Amino acid sequence: MEKFVITGGTPLKGEVTISGAKNAVVAILPATILAEDVCRIENIPNISDVSAMINILNIMGAQIKYINKNTIEIDTRHINSYVVEHELSKQLRASYYLIGALLGRFNHAEVAMPGGCYLGVRPIDQHIKGFEALGATTRIENGMVKVEAESLHGARIYFDNVSVGATINVMLAATFAEGRTVMENVAKEPHVVDVANFLNSMGARIRGAGMDVIRIEGVRKLHGSDYAVIPDQIEAGTFMAMAAATHGDILVRNVIPKHLECISLKLREIGCEVRSYDDAVRVIAPEKLLPTRVRTYPYPGFPTDMQPQTVVVLALAGGSSVVRETIFENRFKYVDELKRMGADVTVESNTAFVHGVKGLSGADVVAPDLRAGAALVIAALSAEGVSGVDKIEYIQRGYEDFDQKIRGLGGRITCVKNPRDERKAMLRYAQ
Ligand code: EPZ
Repeated sequence: MEKFVITGGTPLKGEVTISGAKNAVVAILPATILAEDVCRIENIPNISDVSAMINILNIMGAQIKYINKNTIEIDTRHINSYVVEHELSKQLRASYYLIGALLGRFNHAEVAMPGGCYLGVRPIDQHIKGFEALGATTRIENGMVKVEAESLHGARIYFDNVSVGATINVMLAATFAEGRTVMENVAKEPHVVDVANFLNSMGARIRGAGMDVIRIEGVRKLHGSDYAVIPDQIEAGTFMAMAAATHGDILVRNVIPKHLECISLKLREIGCEVRSYDDAVRVIAPEKLLPTRVRTYPYPGFPTDMQPQTVVVLALAGGSSVVRETIFENRFKYVDELKRMGADVTVESNTAFVHGVKGLSGADVVAPDLRAGAALVIAALSAEGVSGVDKIEYIQRGYEDFDQKIRGLGGRITCVKNPRDERKAMLRYAQ
């Protein structure tokens, strides 16, 4: 049992350095399977989703050496299996990227249905549509996705809805597909571009990532590569929201400001001053936070992974705000926890009506998933009194050294591992 004990009410001030992007690295690691060579990957975040993926690749026969906490060397020459059992794949959603990579390398993949945060149904029909267009046959048996092909050939693929996972997964499989593949209505997220850049650094021929149409010329072979993962857009956005909610002033370092444009714009609408520099953004909170309207949308729209954190900020703004979630059908589960802290939020189907309150008060809450967990930590940091945030294993899936970084900004947060430590922390913070 690990949980955070937090005393709120302190404006967070100072600098924080952002880690590598979770949603890029959990695709880049499986992509090394296509290289059948040694790759050196830098700026890897030390988070449990990464450890889970590395563990899976290890069991499949990859040799992995840690150069330091955030750099590995991975040798995938000796991978000798295209089967990934449920025990392994259920640990994270991104295990579905092993399908595209193994299909590309072995023309065969058998991977159990992926795990991950429950944000709604989350089907993989668009992934399968893409694999079948490349000439593969697919079947789902005993919870295993089985995909195989005599050989893969280029194709024109139009995705029925914009999907990060399907765009990257089909890109992995199409890398070796003979001829040209044209993918339309694709996702344009920064991590989609990062995976394409990584594949091209190994010798792939992918054009147009980050735009509406991706074109891939199939190649016969890839080679190893040294690559550094981009900074995490959502981790950066989370600390930007933390500055707003705690009436703080935070310089968020090691970011690509372009990736944060939509988040910066929204924080400006809420009254924050947001200054952009080459590789940093500074968020200075106003006296009074202003209400606004938010609608989540695929990149470059407002990221759904910033929705819970933004609802927390708006719960502290004067007036009423409206937040519409258009990507996932069940991403407001955390609102009941927020209400325990005194927030005034009403949810009707995919829309939250947020009526600002003067302040929140500390309470014991439980994280239902990764981003909601981070949002509840922000709420606790802004609240009067002491809070306990439980199920932090969700948060550790996607945020490296989260509590250390918050303490570096003056936040009063402790990670407790047992009830005795919890009581000690509560007493300490209650003084
Ligand atoms: C990725 O999930 C991210 N996960 C999610 O981040 C993120 O919320 C999401 O993209 C949207 O940006 C990873 O990158 C590992 P989608 P993914 O396919 O790929 C529907 C986090 O907190 N859909 O873009 O699963 C789907 O149900 C996580 O870091 C289909 O209908 O998302 C959803 O409604 C949470 N059929 C929408 O499309 C498909 O075959 C977008 O999903 C695929 C998706």
